[in-house]
Parts: sequence; structure tokens; C-alpha cells
Amino acid sequence: MASTYGAAQVLVASNRGPVSYTVGEDGSLDAKRGGGGLVSGLSAIGSDADALWVCSALSDGDREAVRRGVGEDGVRMLDIPADVHADAYNGIANSVLWFVHHMLYQTPLEPVFDTEFRRQWASYEAYNRAFAEALAEEAGQGAAVVVQDYHLTLVPGMLRELRPDLRIGHFSHTPWAPPEYFRMLPDDVAGQVLRGMLGADRLGFLTERWAEAFTACAERFAGGLGGTRVGVHGLGADADFLRKRAHEPDVEERMAALRQEIGEGRRTIVRVDRTELSKNIVRGLLAYRRLLEAHAEWREQVVHVAFAYPSRQDLAVYRDYTAEVQRLADEINAEYGTPGWKPVVLHVKDDFARSLAAYRLADVALVNPIRDGMNLVAKEVPVVSDGGCALVLSREAGAHAELGEDAITVNPYDVTGTATALHEALSMRPEERAERTKRLAAAATALPPAQWFLDQLDALRG
Ligand code: G6P
Repeated sequence: MASTYGAAQVLVASNRGPVSYTVGEDGSLDAKRGGGGLVSGLSAIGSDADALWVCSALSDGDREAVRRGVGEDGVRMLDIPADVHADAYNGIANSVLWFVHHMLYQTPLEPVFDTEFRRQWASYEAYNRAFAEALAEEAGQGAAVVVQDYHLTLVPGMLRELRPDLRIGHFSHTPWAPPEYFRMLPDDVAGQVLRGMLGADRLGFLTERWAEAFTACAERFAGGLGGTRVGVHGLGADADFLRKRAHEPDVEERMAALRQEIGEGRRTIVRVDRTELSKNIVRGLLAYRRLLEAHAEWREQVVHVAFAYPSRQDLAVYRDYTAEVQRLADEINAEYGTPGWKPVVLHVKDDFARSLAAYRLADVALVNPIRDGMNLVAKEVPVVSDGGCALVLSREAGAHAELGEDAITVNPYDVTGTATALHEALSMRPEERAERTKRLAAAATALPPAQWFLDQLDALRG
């Protein structure tokens, strides 16, 4: 990716960028490139296209890199003042918009939209404006700009005013709240969010359901979609990358270590998540406990391998949730464990190679979010599974629209129902499991990240 100021023809904007920096003890900067759908998507447009990724400086290392003028080709990091960024990211994006779209509020007590919220909202506006201004500077005449996610809902409208010549897209990686929930936001704020989004030529969502919810909100609270088009692009798993990565030596090593932890001849129920409120890890553990209680035949015969990786630890509710996951796992182990059997193996240190190892070994994958834009774990497991894996999948995950037929569907709030689904999954005949896994893998890889991104660009330009 190359770029000269004011000449980029394809621009992506997101809070989290493709690279992050840490400052070493000797003061040197170390760059670490991330993965994910957007990274492989953007790389698909080729290295000679004038593409630019605009993102936030998130760590101290990132800020230092901006100050020193260090950077990767094709990436521009914005050094937004740390307090403004914290208010916008932690205060508004993750504590308000994320909560609204995932319907996470416990409404007798929250939300409270007071003066503190208004102060944070002003920061969210400033943070969106910084992105809009940077994009306006960098974009060539008539360029295509794809803005990502709930952090940047105001950008399309702001950018439209600065640069009417641009093709502006916005893509939501989250669900969109139904009107009855969305209207919890103060009217002026709800209006700003919708008008910001409707500044785009085209809005992308992961499933029909989220696209319909947005359209319903626009119709009820903003007088309709106006000239904005709405489309659906269900991001799929990157089969080539995953299959190759899952057979590298570090993954094999971790498989051996996991086998030791699980014990000879036992079944494995795997889950892999950020420790995220919407992922419903606690009810997943309750369902597993219920399974052991109701089906004594599985005691000593099954291990629940749960990877719950740290996320958004600046927020107290995430820290509390992390503690609750740990507490419950310990409780189940104390209640049911025996000298030779640990019913729950919980790991909290992020390790992608170990996640892949668990995907390969899993007999059952538990993906039970309260609400989820897509959920890529549900799509990645069948792709790399060694012997076939039964998928227990929440009907509230976007992925359910594509995978529902060959998964065992659960209502994420129904703990006894989820326990029954786990029993059914563990009891599935191996031939059936293998057949279903094959079909799940085909559905999961129907729209690989590169094509997902190119489709959006085509639709935006078309
Ligand atoms: C979700 C969001 C992404 C976000 C990711 C990780 O998938 O849709 O925009 O990057 O969570 O969250 P984080 O707050 O760590 O960026």
C-alpha cells in the first residue's frame, strides 16, 4: 500500500488499526501487525493501489510513533488527545453505543444520560471530527472511503460536508438495535447518530436482521433512508490462512499441551471469546454445570476448555465480569472435580495458536452470545476442525443466519436449554458430526475477507 497526501483512492477508517507499537527498554519502537478480516480484505486490493488506513493511536507506543514520525506505509495514525479518546472510546462507544446495539443495559439502573454523558458525547464528536478531517485531507478526487463501526458513526455526515465528491461507505460489525431499544438514547443524540450514518452513500451490515433494524430506526426517527443505500455482506472465515496457520509447529505444540490438560479419552467442549459481556460466558458455564448435574454419565468424561481473553479492562463492568467468569470456573471445579479430572480448563492469556489448537481438538464448540454482529469463532472452528465438531450456536449471533441449519440452536438466556443442547452435541454420532462440519465449513467460507471487502467497494462505486 502506498499513499501520497491528498491522493489516496481507497481509504479505510477504524478506531483500531492494523499495527500497534510498543516502546522497548532501549527506547526503540517495536511494530506488531494485527490480523482480522479488514487486514486481509485491504491487502486484497494490491500493493500498488493508492490505499490508506486511518486509525487511532491507542497505546503509548503508538503515540510515540506518531511523535517520532515513524509509521507504516499506507497507515496514518491519529494522535487524538488521550482524554478525548478515552471519553469517546470507553465512555460513548463501548459503554453506550455498544450497550445499546447489544441490548446489554440492566434498565432499572442504567443508562443514566447526565452531564457526564454530555461531556463524553462532546469528545465523541471531536474524535469523529478528527477522523473526518484527516480523511478529507488524504482522499483523492472521487475516492472511496469505507468507515468502520460504531466508534465512527458521525464520520460519514461530517465527511460529506467537507468533501461532497467522495464515495462514502460505512460498515457496522455489530448488531443494530431495534427502534424500541435505540430510542433509549436522548433524541438529539439518536438523531445525530442516524444523520451521521445517513451521510454515507451506502451502509453495510453483517446480516439482514441488523440492516432491517437500522432501516426501521431511520424510518421512525430520521424520516427514512433518503438517498442512502443499505446492503448486507456476511464476512466469512479466511480458510486458506486458517488451514495453513493451524498446522504450524506452535499450534501442534499447544495441542499436545492441551491434550495433557484434558486427559486421555475425554470429550472436549471448547469456547473462545474476548471476555466480553455480550459473549455470555457466565451462562455458558452455568449450562455446563447443569450438564454435569443432570447427566452424571458425563462426569470425568468431558472437559470444558474455555478461553476468555482480556478485553476493555478500563471498564469496571468488564473487570467484574472477568472476575465472575474466574469465580464460577473455580466453583465448578471445586464442586465436581476429582483428583484426576478438572472439569473446566480456563485460560485468560490471549494466545491465537492455542485457540487454533483448541479448534482442532474440539468435539463441541459453544458459541452462545446474547447478541453478536457475526461471531467468527463459529465460522473458524468448522474450517480447522480435525475430526468434526458439533456447533452449539446462539440464535442471536449474526452467524446463525448462515450456519443455523447445521448447528444446534440455543436461546442464549435459556441455561437448561443450553445444557440440553450440550448433551445433544456430545451425543451426536461421529458420521453426522463430520457431515455437518463439512457443510458448516462451506457456509462459513462463502465470503472470504478479501471478497467481502471488494464486494463493498464495488457496491459503493456502482
Ligand atoms: C468488536 C468490534 C470491533 C473491535 C473489536 C475488539 O468486534 O466490532 O470494532 O475492534 O470488537 O474490541 P476493541 O475494543 O478491543 O477494539
